[in-house]
Amino acid sequence: MSARRTLIAGNWKMNGLSADAKALATGLAEKMKAAGDVNFEMLVCPPAIQIPVVATAIAGSGIQLGGQDNHANASGAHTGDTSVAMLKDAGCGYAIVGHSERRTDHGETDAVVKDKAQAAHGAGLVAVICIGETEAERDAGKTLDVNGSQIAGSVPDGSTSANTVIAYEPVWAIGTGRTPTNDEVQEVHAFIRGELAKKVGDAEAAKTRILYGGSMNPGNSKDLLALADVDGGLIGGASLKVDDFWTVAQNA
Ligand code: 13P
Repeated sequence: MSARRTLIAGNWKMNGLSADAKALATGLAEKMKAAGDVNFEMLVCPPAIQIPVVATAIAGSGIQLGGQDNHANASGAHTGDTSVAMLKDAGCGYAIVGHSERRTDHGETDAVVKDKAQAAHGAGLVAVICIGETEAERDAGKTLDVNGSQIAGSVPDGSTSANTVIAYEPVWAIGTGRTPTNDEVQEVHAFIRGELAKKVGDAEAAKTRILYGGSMNPGNSKDLLALADVDGGLIGGASLKVDDFWTVAQNA
């Protein structure tokens, strides 16, 4: 039995209006309260503008709250961005950084992601640092190289198992219904833990949660979550429906 507590995280991305966010959060909070003791932690990461409505809906349920991104700077002239203090103030304990959609849509490099993770740490937030290869990189046999260099470049000094979660999300598996095989997922996760150990040491790496993300759903989550080095999921599409997300969590 792993000492790492399974984290079931929903990344709602840019979906839904406030009524949808409220309904989803309320539905999950009801499930959590009815379930009592559970063997997983649940995290939801709504669009920034909906964090307050979700914070109210999940109060007292044990569900954790996170942002989908944060700026590396504390404050200032950064139109449209959200600071770590703002996330914290709104009730967040986590922030996703370096999602492949941010790396692509906003040109975020490993260096940028590292600075954002460092800012999250400075505010007492847990940084969920995302990495993952593209399909072309996988086809070229570069999967381990790419994930290794993203760990080296995106994980800041001072990272620990308490302030950092890694999410392995193969870009080609996101929103496509395709996933690597279970053996492939386990191979990459074990490799990532080894690369992480080079930065944080063996003991911290052994305690750090590494989530799988990319088309995780009620049907495939039981097998994925049972893999030795998979410590939870970062779930997009299937996190937008109460029953689907709850079923994934039940598979932890
Ligand atoms: P899907 O679960 O929709 O494939 O998204 C995964 C993801 O990108 C979570 O961050």
